[in-house]
Amino acid sequence: MNKESIVSDTKEMVKDKLKNEGTGHDWYHIERVWKMASRLAKREQANSYIVELAALLHDLIDDKLVSDKGKAITEVEYWLEGAGVSSSDTERIMDIIQTISYKGGNGRKLSSLEAQIVQDADRLDAIGAIGIARCFAYAGSKGDVLFDPELSVREDMTEKEYREGPSSAVHHFYEKLLKLKELMNTEAAKEIAQERHAFMEEYLMQFFEEWEAE
Ligand code: ADP
Ligand code: NI
Repeated sequence: MNKESIVSDTKEMVKDKLKNEGTGHDWYHIERVWKMASRLAKREQANSYIVELAALLHDLIDDKLVSDKGKAITEVEYWLEGAGVSSSDTERIMDIIQTISYKGGNGRKLSSLEAQIVQDADRLDAIGAIGIARCFAYAGSKGDVLFDPELSVREDMTEKEYREGPSSAVHHFYEKLLKLKELMNTEAAKEIAQERHAFMEEYLMQFFEEWEAE
């Protein structure tokens, strides 16, 4: 099978699997990450076949989506084999999707350009206008409030402090979203992140003004 039809078959399979997903990893998140990753791959002259397949598959083994991660990994490998992806390409794709998560990839720079690109595309979808929307949607699904002025908002709070204490959607900006700009790997993603970051800062300023009825 040619590469183009492998990508389009994978797209259909993922779309079918995630069409009823309600935790912020719905098909349209995957589609945006896939499009952004393809765009970054062109800019960075990366292997776009590997990037596209990894972007499409990146959330199928997420702990928040699957109860049995080992089984999910085997299923994705089985899919790639069945689709006609070579074993060395399968290995590269599996390596990417297993290492890009925020926690997993945090701190250490990913070794391949293709992994860096998929991680950047996933992180770009967590910031800007879409990122704000996803944050409030996620907080709503957890039962968190929009904002709680009784909770302290410190830029230097650790992820652990946040996770263990009570939270709010606005807290998640300080916990993660405002930090993502500095974590982008590629130059192309850094540029896009600047603009989306500025938009979030402006959003928060307006939010706090309205909060005080100013
Ligand atoms: P991804 O799998 O896309 O890297 P996550 O699974 O961590 O991201 O989260 C999915 C979406 O929900 C993201 O947009 C993220 O910012 C948001 N999110 C995650 N945790 C929280 C939280 N505690 N409060 C609000 N939004 C959150
Ligand atoms: Ni994702």
